[in-house]
Amino acid sequence: MTEGMLEHIEAHIIRMEGNLMHGRRVLLLSKLIAKKDGLEYDDDILTFAAYFHDVAAYPYYRKLFSAEFDHALESSRLIPELAREYGFSDIKIEIIVEATRFHNKANMGIHNETKLIRNADGVDYLGYMAVARDFSKFPGDFGKVLKSLKRRKDQFFPLIDLPYAKELAVPRVKELEEFIRRFEEECLGVL
Ligand SMILES: [Fe+2]
Ligand SMILES: [Fe+2]
Repeated sequence: MTEGMLEHIEAHIIRMEGNLMHGRRVLLLSKLIAKKDGLEYDDDILTFAAYFHDVAAYPYYRKLFSAEFDHALESSRLIPELAREYGFSDIKIEIIVEATRFHNKANMGIHNETKLIRNADGVDYLGYMAVARDFSKFPGDFGKVLKSLKRRKDQFFPLIDLPYAKELAVPRVKELEEFIRRFEEECLGVL
C-alpha cells in the first residue's frame, strides 16, 4: 500500500472517531504472525481489513444500531461501499468482507487475511492490553471493567489458532488472569 493511501485511511478512521491505534496494532500483529507462520497475504486487503474490521462500532456508525448488535456482521455490510471509495476490485472487496465478517468467529472463512485479522484481533484483547482497553472503555466503573476482563479470555483465546499467535497469546492470558486475581484482592470487595 502506498503511503498516501495509508494516510488517507488513517485520516478516515480519525474522522469516524475510530480506534486508530487498535487498527495499527492489528495490522502490525497480523504481519508479524504471517511472517512467523509463513502465510501469504495481499498487503492492501490486510491493511484495509485491519483498519476497518470494527467500523460499525466506531461512533460515526454505532448510533445507527441497537444496543445488541453483531459489530462484525454490520461492519462487513459497510465494507463494500467504503472499499470502493479506495478503488478496490470486487474480488478484493469480497476478501475484506470475509475478514471483517468473521474476525470474531472461530474457524470461519477461507482466506489467509481472515485468519490473520482474527488472530491479531484476538491477541490485541488479551494481556495488559485488555486491561488498558477495558479501563478506557468503562472509565470509573471498576465493577464493569472486572466483569468485562473476566470474559476476555473466553471471548478471544478460542479464536486464536495460528502457532505464532498462540505463542503471543499464552503469556497474555497469564498476565490477564494474574491481574484479575490481584486486582480483586486489592479492591477488598469495594468496586
Ligand atoms: Fe471486533
Ligand atoms: Fe478489533
